[in-house]
Amino acid sequence: MNICSDRVLQIPRSGIREIFDLIPEFKDVVNLCIGEPDFTTPSFIIKKAFEAAQSGATHYTANAGFLELREQISEKYKEEQGIHYAPDEEIIITMGAMEALFLSLMTIINPGEEVILPDPFWPNYEAQILIAGGKPVFVPTKEEEGWVLTAERIMPYLTSKTKAIIINSPSNPTGCVYSLHQLEQIARVAKDKNLIVISDECYEKIIYEGKHRSIASLEGMQPRTIVINSFSKTYAMTGWRIGYALGSKDIIKQMAKLQEDVASCASSVSQKAAIVALKEGNDSVEKMLQRYKVRRDLILEEIEKTPEISCLPPRGAFYIFLNIKKLNQSSRDVALKWLKEARVATVPGSSFGKEGEGYLRVSFSVSEDKIKEAFERIRGIL
Ligand SMILES: Cc1ncc(COP(=O)(O)O)c(C=O)c1O
Repeated sequence: MNICSDRVLQIPRSGIREIFDLIPEFKDVVNLCIGEPDFTTPSFIIKKAFEAAQSGATHYTANAGFLELREQISEKYKEEQGIHYAPDEEIIITMGAMEALFLSLMTIINPGEEVILPDPFWPNYEAQILIAGGKPVFVPTKEEEGWVLTAERIMPYLTSKTKAIIINSPSNPTGCVYSLHQLEQIARVAKDKNLIVISDECYEKIIYEGKHRSIASLEGMQPRTIVINSFSKTYAMTGWRIGYALGSKDIIKQMAKLQEDVASCASSVSQKAAIVALKEGNDSVEKMLQRYKVRRDLILEEIEKTPEISCLPPRGAFYIFLNIKKLNQSSRDVALKWLKEARVATVPGSSFGKEGEGYLRVSFSVSEDKIKEAFERIRGIL
């Protein structure tokens, strides 16, 4: 008998880790694997959270989190998306988007039920669906189609067991952003087939053209959507582990019940920090966005100067999904070669699913100097 459960053993190890774990073996690596803002949390957020802790915000909170924070999130979605979520019934605060997603899947998935997700995908979706006893169903998306999961592509993968569709706009790893028309098409499938949509919106503020639109705001979609969001990327608060989910009261009630058994609540201090971020964080968000824009333009210029590689310019998030097909090697081999010979770390596209083969995920959440240095080195070995 194995000491560890089948549940945990079936979970694949994230391919992102392989390159990451090798980095310390080399000197002076430019690390473009990074999946988080390189900025520190704005100092006023840290200061006010510290003050809140000193004033006694150091206890458990309600399972769903501080009501004040839920009220602010409700305001935000009213203002930005025109939809109302009742703070006391339809919002739960979680330990990052990660836990929001985990509680959602544990709440809605019965063993054997299927969850559609776009390939390439963020690997944690697959792992969490498996933990919940569900079956991940990967629907290919293509660079030529902007990496978007279209209704047409979903249709052949629907079965009587399909329960939910996960969408992630802007996307990690591809940087794609769904248009209103594309969201409407997915919404139509969800309504026709009675499916739940899990909409991971944690990069919503890192968009280079236009504004984020939540699928939950489309007609008839609010009751069948679970919105997942986070303070991690928007406010450079990854280590605070604070996020949230929005959904129908039946779902949120069960998620809050489960929260009691998973973590009791999200950190009280982080919740206080999140309140400050929502109230006073807009300028900081805008400043960080401007910096990402400069870096995105720079990395696109560098890629342009390198004929062996290409990419679809990302419309959101801070990743390039770099096409390396001309190099005629697997994405793992190219990532290893670039690490060993150029001391530039990237993530093999195959870590994000079959469709990711032939690509590398390159993060531009690093300084402009590092971007330039990395591409000089890459051109050097090419
Ligand atoms: C697409 C996506 N969703 C969710 C998360 C998790 O974010 P959090 O830090 O809020 O748990 C990440 C983090 O990398 C992500 O890229």
